[in-house]
Amino acid sequence: MQYKSQAVAKPYFIAAIGLFIGQILFGLIMGLQYVVGDFMFPAIPFNAARMVHTNLLIVWLLFGFMGAAYYLVPEESETELFSPKLAITMFWIFLVAGALTIVGYLAVPYATLAKITMNSLFPTMGREFLEQPTITKLGIVVVALAFLFNIGMTVLKGRKTAISLVLLLGLLGLAVFFLFSFYNPDNLVKDKYFWWWVVHLWVEGVWELILGAILAFVLIKITGVDREVVEKWLYVIITMTLITGIIGTGHHYYWIGTPGYWQVWGSIFSALEPIPFFMLTIFAFNMVNKRRREHPNKAATLWALGTGVMAFLGAGVWGFLHTLAPVNYYTHGTQLTAAHGHMAFYGAYVMVVLTIISYAMPVLRGRAANCEKAQVVEMWSFWLMTVSIVFITLFLTGAGILQTWLQRMGDHPMSFMDAQNAIAIFYWMREGSGLVFLIGLATYVTSFFIKGETKAI
Ligand code: HEM
Ligand code: HEM
Ligand SMILES: [Fe+2]
Repeated sequence: MQYKSQAVAKPYFIAAIGLFIGQILFGLIMGLQYVVGDFMFPAIPFNAARMVHTNLLIVWLLFGFMGAAYYLVPEESETELFSPKLAITMFWIFLVAGALTIVGYLAVPYATLAKITMNSLFPTMGREFLEQPTITKLGIVVVALAFLFNIGMTVLKGRKTAISLVLLLGLLGLAVFFLFSFYNPDNLVKDKYFWWWVVHLWVEGVWELILGAILAFVLIKITGVDREVVEKWLYVIITMTLITGIIGTGHHYYWIGTPGYWQVWGSIFSALEPIPFFMLTIFAFNMVNKRRREHPNKAATLWALGTGVMAFLGAGVWGFLHTLAPVNYYTHGTQLTAAHGHMAFYGAYVMVVLTIISYAMPVLRGRAANCEKAQVVEMWSFWLMTVSIVFITLFLTGAGILQTWLQRMGDHPMSFMDAQNAIAIFYWMREGSGLVFLIGLATYVTSFFIKGETKAI
C-alpha cells in the first residue's frame, strides 16, 4: 500500500461481500417462491424478499464504489486521504442505517414501516428500487455528501488525473440523480418519468463513468500500459456513454403516457448504447495484450477482462434485444427484462467491484498478490458465478420469449398466471443455476482464507 489511509477501503470491501451473500440468499428464496408460491409465507412474503434482494444489491455496490474510491483516489492523487476518520464514521453510519432498513423490510409489513417512519410527512416510499423509508434516503444523502467532500478534497489537494476526475464526476452524478428519489408527484406519468432519472441515468449514465474509471485504474496497474493511452480510451468511452445514454432514457418513455416522439428518439439513441460497452471490452483486451509487465495477480486480470465481456453481453446485447419500440411493445415488463437486468448488473457493476477488490485486497493485506492456490480458487469462483449468471439469463430469456408469445400474441392469449404456470420449468432451472451461483460465491469467500507463500510488496 502506497498511502496508509487507503486502508479505510478494507471495511468497505468486506461489508460489500457480506451484503452480497445476503442478496443472493434472498434471490434464492424468491426464485423458489416463483414455483412454490407459499414458500416461507407469511414470514418472508415475495414483495419483502424482492426489496431485500434489490436494495442489498444497490447498497453493496455503493459500498464497493466507495471502497474503490477510497483505495484509488489517494494513489492517483499521490496524497493521503483528506480524512480517514470521516470515512470510517460514514462507513458505520451507512452500515447501521442499511441494516436497520433491511430489518424494517423483514420485521413489519411495508405499510407499517411507512407509518413508523412517518412517510406521510414527506412521502417518497413505494417505488421499485426506491422503497427505502424517507429517513434512510436522507441518511444516504448525508453519507454521500460526506463521502464526496472527503474524496473531492483529496483530489483538490493532490495530483489531478483523468481517472480520478472521471470517477469524481460519476460519483457526483450518482448523488445528484439520487435526489430525484425525493420527488414523488401524484401524477403517475411524471412519477415514472423522473423515476428513470435515478434508475436509468444511474446504470446507463453516471455509473458507467465509475465503471470506466475503476477499470482503467486496475488496467494501468496490472498491465503497466502508458497512462496516456488508457486516458484516451476512457475519454472516448465516457463521451459515447453520455451521448447515447442521456437521450437513450427515452427507451423507458414508450408506454407511460409521454409524447409519441420518444418512441423514435428512445429507439435510435438507446440502440447506440451498446457502443461504449463494446469499446470497454476492446479496451480491456487491448490493454492486456499490450501489457508491459506480468503482474502476479492473474485473478484480477481475469476479472477485468470478464467485466468487459459480460458488461457488453448483459447491457449491450441483452439491452439491445428489447430496446426498439416495436419489440418493446411486446416484451415490456416480461422475464426478458429480468434476464437483461441480471446479466447487465452482474456483468458491469458486480464484476467491476469484484475486479477492484481482487486487485486491491491483497495489497491491503500487505502482498502484491495472493498465493497461487488462493488465486486458483478465486478463478474457479469467477467461472462458477459467471457461467451460472449466463444460465440464469438464458433460462429467463426462454421464459420471457414464451411468456410474450403465450400471453401477448396469437389468437387466444393466456392470462398472466396461466402463462406463468406453463413456463414453470424455466423457473426451476433458474433456481438450479442460482444454487450454483451461491456455491460460486462461497468459493469466492473461501479464497480469502487460503494461506500460502506470497511476495511482500
Ligand atoms: C450496465 C448497464 C445496465 C443495467 C445495470 C441495466 C439494468 C436494467 C434493469 C434492472 C431493468 C429493469 C428496470 C425495471 O425494473 O423496470 C432494465 C430495463 C431496460 N433496459 Fe437496461 N440496463 C443496462 C443497460 C441497458 C442498455 C445498454 C440497454 C439498451 C441497449 C438497455 C435497455 C433496457 C430496456 C429497453 C429496458 C426496459 C425493459 C422493459 O420495457 O421492460 N439497458 N435495465
Ligand atoms: C449477482 C447476481 C444477481 C444480480 C446482480 C441480481 C439482480 C437483480 C435485479 C436487478 C432484479 C430486479 C429485476 C427487474 O426488476 O427486472 C432482480 C430480481 C430478482 N432476482 Fe436477482 N440478481 C442476482 C442473483 C439472483 C439469483 C442467484 C437469484 C435466484 C436464483 C435471483 C432471483 C431473482 C428474482 C426471483 C427476482 C424477482 C424478479 C421478479 O420480480 O419477477 N437473483 N435481481
Ligand atoms: Fe435504460
